[in-house]
Amino acid sequence: MAMSTVLFALADEISHEILVKKNPIPVSSDVLGKAKVNFEDNCTPCHGTEGKGDGPLAESLKKRPKDLTNTKELGGLADGEIFWLLSRGRDPMPAFDQKLTDNERWGLVHLVRSMSNTKSTTTSHHQ
Ligand code: HEC
Repeated sequence: MAMSTVLFALADEISHEILVKKNPIPVSSDVLGKAKVNFEDNCTPCHGTEGKGDGPLAESLKKRPKDLTNTKELGGLADGEIFWLLSRGRDPMPAFDQKLTDNERWGLVHLVRSMSNTKSTTTSHHQ
C-alpha cells in the first residue's frame, strides 16, 4: 500500500523534460481556430465560453475552475505545465490524454496563452 502510494506520487509528478518542453506546434489562426472548437466541446462546461471559470458546471464542483483570462496566474505557468495539466487533469478537472491528441492539447496551450494574454514560456514560477 505504502509502496504503491509512493509509485503513484512519482508517476504523477511532472517530469523536468515536460516542464521545460517547448510547444512543438507553431501558433497560427488555423491552430487557434481548431483549439477554439476543442475548447467549446471540452472546456466550456466548467471554464465558460470566455474561459473565466463561470461555466454551467462551475458552481457544482468541489473546486472553482480557474479563470483562464488571468494574466498573472497563467503567466506563472510554463507551456509544459499547462500541457501536463491538460493531459493528466487535476481533480475535479478530467484528464484529456485519451480524448484529445498531443497536437490538440498543444493547440489548447496556445489558446490558453491567447485567452490570458500571456507569452509561451518554458519557465515556471511554481517549481
Ligand atoms: C469538470 C470541470 C473542468 C473541465 C471540463 C475542464 N477544467 Fe480546467 N480546471 C478545472 C478546475 C476545477 C481547475 C482548478 C484546479 C485546481 O485548482 O487545482 C482547472 C484548472 C485549469 C487550468 C489551470 C489554470 C491555473 O491558473 O492554474 C487550466 C490551464 C485549465 N483548467 C484548462 C482547461 C482546458 C483547456 C480544458 C478543456 C480541454 C479544461 N480545463 C477542462 C475544471 C475543469
